[in-house]
Amino acid sequence: MRGISFWFFMTAVIYVTLGMIWGIVMAATGDHRLAAAHAHLNLVGWVTLALFGIYYHLVPRAGEHLLAKLHFAVATVGVVLLVPGIAMAVSGAGELLAKVGSVLTLASMLLFAVVVFRSRKAVEVPERAMVRQGLEQSA
Ligand code: HEM
Repeated sequence: MRGISFWFFMTAVIYVTLGMIWGIVMAATGDHRLAAAHAHLNLVGWVTLALFGIYYHLVPRAGEHLLAKLHFAVATVGVVLLVPGIAMAVSGAGELLAKVGSVLTLASMLLFAVVVFRSRKAVEVPERAMVRQGLEQSA
């Protein structure tokens, strides 16, 4: 794993490590008020970013485009703003950060939709690749 897929995975691992520590602290203190922020750190920061990383690993050509770097930047900044934003909103400290973070997080998914669409021809079905290799060997 290298390039943008590595960075998506590395960032996702950092987010889930923080998310797990946060979960342990919540469980230990019995204070679950910020559970929604913890959940988003884990589900957007870990699950979603790791899925992006797997995609770029499976379709390396998609990760070579500048759009993939923009996607990474928007997705990571989105989580960095969304999670404290939710914590602030839940605590009654204002919703602005949560709004900005959620729009960036949505933008990251829309960018990913463009990446996936642009890379549709770069995806090779394994069975088709095997047939092609077989034809090349027999030629
Ligand atoms: C060391 C690991 C973790 C610990 C100790 C932990 C702990 C907790 C605790 C104490 C709560 C609050 C439960 C409640 O109020 O009823 C919670 C909620 C939650 N956690 Fe975790 N968690 C961990 C990892 C994860 C991971 C990896 C994910 C997702 C991939 C996750 C997703 C959620 C979700 C969706 C909720 C519900 C939030 C809500 O009801 O608003 N957690 N967790």
